[in-house]
Amino acid sequence: MRAVVTGAARGLGEGIAARLAADGGAVALIDVSAEVTATADRVRAACDGAGPVCGLVADVSDEAACDEAIARSAGLLGGIDLLVSNAGIGGPDTAVVDTDLAEFRRVLDVNLTGTFLAARAAARLMISQGAGGSIVTLGSVFGQQGVPGGAAYCASKAGVALLTHSLALELAPHRIRVNAIAPGNMATRMHWDELHSRARRSGTSFDEQVERARAGIPLGRFGTGGDVAGAVAWLASADASYVTGQVIGVNGGLLLGR
Ligand SMILES: NC(=O)c1ccc[n+]([C@@H]2O[C@H](COP(=O)([O-])OP(=O)(O)OC[C@H]3O[C@@H](n4cnc5c(N)ncnc54)[C@H](O)[C@@H]3O)[C@@H](O)[C@H]2O)c1
Repeated sequence: MRAVVTGAARGLGEGIAARLAADGGAVALIDVSAEVTATADRVRAACDGAGPVCGLVADVSDEAACDEAIARSAGLLGGIDLLVSNAGIGGPDTAVVDTDLAEFRRVLDVNLTGTFLAARAAARLMISQGAGGSIVTLGSVFGQQGVPGGAAYCASKAGVALLTHSLALELAPHRIRVNAIAPGNMATRMHWDELHSRARRSGTSFDEQVERARAGIPLGRFGTGGDVAGAVAWLASADASYVTGQVIGVNGGLLLGR
């Protein structure tokens, strides 16, 4: 399995890359942060150098940089069988009436346009290889339901879900399956930043917000990179060869009963 994971310097992306490498895959980690090189070193060391693991710095919202990083990844890995378009940023946590256009655009640029650019580059390569493939995008529970203060993020992730549907239909004749994973409340910096912001806004403590968020998850715990990685590994496997165009919740039951 030759896999490219974007947004892999930390968080869910690091967990996904680590699992794919541990399963024997050749993995390219792409991130806008230079930390991605150290992450790739960690992932390589943890899996005892089974397949090649490399780290590349690129901003997925920059067309030329994203195209170049995906092409370089495929060159280093000898091709590409799986793209996990995971890079994303949280929103400004402001009401629409208080949100700057530049902030709104930045969230759409990274989360939605970045996914379009990465998927387009990977799909072009997979089509030219002629051997099928798999693309996994990262949506969110906030792409399935709007929340106050999250308009840009929610719009970007809802966009990712329907981008995924369109891609699945267009790429099915090439035996390229395209699915989205929609995580819930995950134990990563992105979610902690959101809870810090919520605490500031409501005059409560961060610990109180953590406990409230945790208590709202039916399975009673925050999700991890490993939880998402398990779904990615399944989606990329032959066991999921009849699965395309789906948005799969990995959320501990978060939206049940609403
Ligand atoms: N954490 C959650 O609760 C949660 C919930 C639902 C969905 N998600 C989604 O899962 C994905 C991973 O989130 P996370 O929690 O690991 O976040 P995170 O902030 O911990 O990590 C995101 C990574 O993406 C990278 N990145 C940001 N902008 C980039 C760009 N322009 N180009 C390349 N890399 C870029 C960051 O440098 C970082 O390494 C995101 O798409 C996020 O929206 C997260």
